[in-house]
Amino acid sequence: MGRDEEEDDNGGGGGRERTKLDDVAVHETVPSLLLDGTGLVCVTGGTGFVASWLIMRLLQRGYSVRATVRTNPEGNKKDISYLTELPFASERLQIFTADLNEPESFKPAIEGCKAVFHVAHPMDQSGNETEEAVTKRTVQGLMGILKSCADAKTVIRFFYTSSAVTVFYSGGNAGGGSGEVDESVWSDVEVFRNQKEKRVSGSYVVSKLAAEMAALEFGAKNGLEVVTLVIPLVVGPFISPSLPSSVFISLAMLFEGNYKEKYLFDTYNMVHIDDVARAMIYLLEKPIAKGRYICSSVEMKIDEVYEFLSTKYPQFQLPFIDMKNYKVEKRMSLSTKKLRSAGFEFKYGADEIFSGAIRSCEARGFL
Ligand SMILES: NC(=O)c1ccc[n+]([C@@H]2O[C@H](COP(=O)([O-])OP(=O)(O)OC[C@H]3O[C@@H](n4cnc5c(N)ncnc54)[C@H](OP(=O)(O)O)[C@@H]3O)[C@@H](O)[C@H]2O)c1
Repeated sequence: MGRDEEEDDNGGGGGRERTKLDDVAVHETVPSLLLDGTGLVCVTGGTGFVASWLIMRLLQRGYSVRATVRTNPEGNKKDISYLTELPFASERLQIFTADLNEPESFKPAIEGCKAVFHVAHPMDQSGNETEEAVTKRTVQGLMGILKSCADAKTVIRFFYTSSAVTVFYSGGNAGGGSGEVDESVWSDVEVFRNQKEKRVSGSYVVSKLAAEMAALEFGAKNGLEVVTLVIPLVVGPFISPSLPSSVFISLAMLFEGNYKEKYLFDTYNMVHIDDVARAMIYLLEKPIAKGRYICSSVEMKIDEVYEFLSTKYPQFQLPFIDMKNYKVEKRMSLSTKKLRSAGFEFKYGADEIFSGAIRSCEARGFL
């Protein structure tokens, strides 16, 4: 990818939204301890939607990045030029091969790093694998990575990209009746299983819960600073070549032909991809950061999304959707008080979230 395309994609919605390098500079007064020329960090699952954007931002911010990718099951070489051609990649990006099926395989990439962002996850879209198989791979892979972090003795902070599914299905009186859930709340798998309409797979909910808990427990027992980012649907522009599943879900109404009611949510909790990367870098550079942080900025009901998209994008023919089929079940909002109190400011709203996603989809022929 060329420099121009990368710049166009950054804000996803044209010059107005373009994110300059300075905008990633989240600590005006506290320079990063890691930006001392040895700011070596590792990002797992480098080919993915979230990780590739994070790698781009880390490189722009001055970090040296080791990205892990896995080999194709067919043994073919992957085209990862969208990573290796990023600005600063030739000087500061190294690619390592590692697979969650081989927990030890992450060790070489982690040795010597100051921080590790564990983003890889078995995203089983087909649902062919059992919950047990997905969870086992997720947790064993994670434990291998955590052990490598502890062994390395250089890793100051470990980041896990968790999901809002770990807090949404709490049931009962979570949030003290406030209508909001915060980081003190954990989903109950049984509450999830009892949901009438399931929009996410059981293997995803169970594996994310197991992994986030295991990471926090490992940190507490082994004196490793563990930060988990609890994020809802990540939407916005993308540099990875395939259509990210969360972008597809958020725009499901626009995908003629592919449209199916099962892809629609009653409520869309979303965050811009760049705010996710900014939050991770913010928490990386903060002298103290600990535990879970909910990172979410936009909540829209399905009828609001419909109205928004049909008004802003009249060029798309939206299907008829019977809104009464999407009666919002009692669902909690996500509290971002902890992240905001730590000084983080979200930069993007619904406009940029959707415009960035639509522009990237159009540029790659998905829309
Ligand atoms: N996107 C969202 O809305 C969202 C919301 C909440 C949390 N998250 C979390 O954020 C992370 C990234 O999500 P994403 O949307 O960027 O997903 P993605 O684009 O599907 O990326 C997943 C990454 O994991 C890698 N991976 C899968 N199985 C692996 C294995 N066995 N060994 C090593 N790597 C493996 C994939 O490699 P290949 O390219 O080889 O398949 C890919 O790089 C995940 O942990 C996800 O749970 C995402």
